[in-house]
Amino acid sequence: MPLILRKHQLAHGIEEMVVDAPQVAAKAEAGHFVIVMADERGERVPLTVADYDRQAGTITLVLMVLGTSSRKLAGLRAGDNLHALIGPLGHPSPIAEYGTVVVVAGGVGTAPIYPIARSLHERGNRIISIQGARNAELVFWREKLAAVSDCHILVTDDGSAGQRALVTEPLRELLRTDPSIGCVYAIGPAPMMRACAETTRPQATRTIVSLNTIMVDGTGMCGGCRVRVGDRTLFTCVDGPEFDGHLVDWDSVLARQRIYHAEERCSLNRYVDEARKLEESQRA
Ligand code: FES
Repeated sequence: MPLILRKHQLAHGIEEMVVDAPQVAAKAEAGHFVIVMADERGERVPLTVADYDRQAGTITLVLMVLGTSSRKLAGLRAGDNLHALIGPLGHPSPIAEYGTVVVVAGGVGTAPIYPIARSLHERGNRIISIQGARNAELVFWREKLAAVSDCHILVTDDGSAGQRALVTEPLRELLRTDPSIGCVYAIGPAPMMRACAETTRPQATRTIVSLNTIMVDGTGMCGGCRVRVGDRTLFTCVDGPEFDGHLVDWDSVLARQRIYHAEERCSLNRYVDEARKLEESQRA
């Protein structure tokens, strides 16, 4: 079972773990993801490979603590084992020569955008990164992303770090003033990726998004991760996770993200309740 070598909090509610996974690290490329389970009854959680070290045989995963499964994962410590880890899965990012690439990261999207920006930069592209967060407390990997960017722009909703703006504002301005932009990458919450795709649509600038859908098997068999892209139904796990943002049916993506909200809330309430009872019994 994969051993967690290091784990620490990057920002409020955002955890980073470095996992011993030499076989995954040997094959991982920008854009790949893995599916992990915290315990044998745990949900299968897809997480992008945020970094990898082939020599050390490790991969880095970043997760936002939201529901039961992410809390279980966040509760693991260095020295603990994940119950399961499978990967790398999905298609790697299309790393080509685009000229100037704008990479847009929203919130925890900074983690998956980082290896893409690094690979595109190594390929000789000029990278402009726009990193957005709700506030300064939620900003992480700022220096790391800036190090693989020719220009780095930080925005927050409340102006507590960088400019007070949404990510689409500097993106719109760049598209207006820089004709060398050949591609835009946007990764973050679905509404943000949709807004970026709408911003680039008038100029038809190639826009790639990475979808983080519900997944079960991760191998194209369950259909849980299906998404409408243009006139086709595709599976995020085997056809993606990256798609043309102008062709994604965002209404269906958002609707499917909400499909299990009631069950997720129920599960979280039960988990919190059980954790509280356990804590009380240990104190007694
Ligand atoms: Fe089952 Fe993609 S996760 S088909």
